[in-house]
Amino acid sequence: MNEHDRLVDRAAREARAVLFVGGLDSGKSSMARATAAYALTLGRSVAYLDADVSQKTVGPPGTVGLKHIREPDDLTHDRMAQADAIGFVGSTSPQDHLLPLVGALSRLREQAHDEGAELVVVDTGGEVSGIRGQLVKYYKVDTLEPDLVVALQRGEELEPIVGVVERFFGVEVVRLGIHPAVVPTTVDERMAKREESMRRYFTQPLQRFRVRPTVFMPSLPPLFDLSQLDRLLVGLSDGEGGFTGVGYLEPVSGNGGLRLISPVAEAPKALRLGSVRLEESFRAKRIDLRNLFGTE
Ligand SMILES: Nc1ncnc2c1ncn2[C@@H]1O[C@H](COP(=O)(O)OP(=O)(O)O)[C@@H](O)[C@H]1O
Ligand SMILES: [Mg+2]
Repeated sequence: MNEHDRLVDRAAREARAVLFVGGLDSGKSSMARATAAYALTLGRSVAYLDADVSQKTVGPPGTVGLKHIREPDDLTHDRMAQADAIGFVGSTSPQDHLLPLVGALSRLREQAHDEGAELVVVDTGGEVSGIRGQLVKYYKVDTLEPDLVVALQRGEELEPIVGVVERFFGVEVVRLGIHPAVVPTTVDERMAKREESMRRYFTQPLQRFRVRPTVFMPSLPPLFDLSQLDRLLVGLSDGEGGFTGVGYLEPVSGNGGLRLISPVAEAPKALRLGSVRLEESFRAKRIDLRNLFGTE
């Protein structure tokens, strides 16, 4: 057994929450999936918490997703993409959205436990460099309270993050190199994968709801031109703090109203505005709501 297999074996047997960190294409998602798969064969009840808002395993980009793994078929790519619950972050890069990220992860972690998960496998995004990378990982560990962190690193790139985790949280960190079978991807391939993941979410049968301009968080400024919200990504609130899915907005031609497009069947209670606009190709283009609203 190589060191990666040994870690999978151990995490699947012993951990209550294992968090995988590493740069882009370091094998995080593959190891997280392998751990979930092995824990399932051991009869443990396992949940996969996808905290990567960009390269998704569970749920559409711009969200974090929870998936209970109850049978081997739940581990197929198609099934995993169908989240049991999502949290809305509203952006495909977490750095400037730590507050929604942390809030969403906290809810999903609690839900995983309430629903009986003995092991929560946490997959994270590839942002590991600089102050931003450290902050994102610090708050993920703070919120999710893993009892094991696995650091998949090239050279010593993760030492700043590993140091933070060890010093501030006293959590055991296992350092591993990159598995030789890992296939690196290009920036373009990652972008194409994000687009494809978003497009696939919106190829399910779609619902169209008229929406009132009073349902938004943050609320719209007075006399706001609603057409500026064209194709903005939104989170669909269940009215109890959670989110049933995502959608995008479309101006209704003629009367200046708005329509919500989403695969979620039930009408949402309210809508959280995201920070990306979906282009025709479903590429997510960043926008800043403060600029759009002309306020701070
Ligand atoms: N043990 C492995 N055996 C074969 N392929 C692997 C293995 N680990 C990763 N890969 C491949 O390498 C690529 C990157 O792995 P992935 O787990 O998606 O990394 P990350 O989540 O860190 O971006 C994927 O195409 C994946 O299929
Ligand atoms: Mg991944």
